Amino acid sequence: MSRKKLIAANWKMYKDPAQTKEFFHGFLPMVAKHDRDEIVVCPPYIDLHAAIELVKGSKVAVGAQNVYWKTEGAFTGEISPTMLVAVGCTHVIIGHSERRQYFGETDDTVNLKLKAALEHGLTPIVCVGEVLEEREAGLTEDVLRRQCMRAFSTLSARKAAKLVVAYEPVWAIGTGKTATPEMASDAHVLIRGEAAKAFGDDFGAGLRILYGGSVKPENAKALMSQEEIDGALVGGASLDPKSFAAIVKY
Ligand code: PGA
Repeated sequence: MSRKKLIAANWKMYKDPAQTKEFFHGFLPMVAKHDRDEIVVCPPYIDLHAAIELVKGSKVAVGAQNVYWKTEGAFTGEISPTMLVAVGCTHVIIGHSERRQYFGETDDTVNLKLKAALEHGLTPIVCVGEVLEEREAGLTEDVLRRQCMRAFSTLSARKAAKLVVAYEPVWAIGTGKTATPEMASDAHVLIRGEAAKAFGDDFGAGLRILYGGSVKPENAKALMSQEEIDGALVGGASLDPKSFAAIVKY
């Protein structure tokens, strides 16, 4: 099954609206003719409006880095899926390891956020991945299985149709260490298997699984050439228009 690759930028807590404008002025002309892959940029919430205005007429989509699972209410500081849709967001990152590490996200909140995002028509990019101690203790497979199983819990294949998963080994995020293309492939096979168990073989075969963790222009081609790798979630190297364009065009 052919799966169109998705190259996503995760800006984390970088760039204000003026810097967002500067980025797109540089970036959009560089990818204007690029049809091969889908491109998504996920800036901080306060830049979403500017980003969405700037990408109009281009093939670049805009996503958020987080979402709450209720549509409205007394939840100070949170943003709902309906608000993201209203502003023109089409994608959302869910369960990034930094959210799990620093902001108390659990497999259960990931599941609630995933269901809410799908319910409102957003394309969710659900992040899974092991920390270094887990890899060294031989627990990578158990961790990935648990994270997938609990994220996918009580969802149907029909509802999950837009699901995208990102495999991000935590030890490779922002460290300059990359999983080898083979390591990433092995993890992707396992994740695909979990999706097939939850939603059926066809769903598993069609699921896009991105790799994230120190993706750079220099290693993008080797990673993206792997049959199992359906795109990238890029942090640090997505902040510079030239470097992100080079990754998109690997
Ligand atoms: P990195 O981040 O590319 O800076 O390692 C990836 C991510 O956290 O999504």
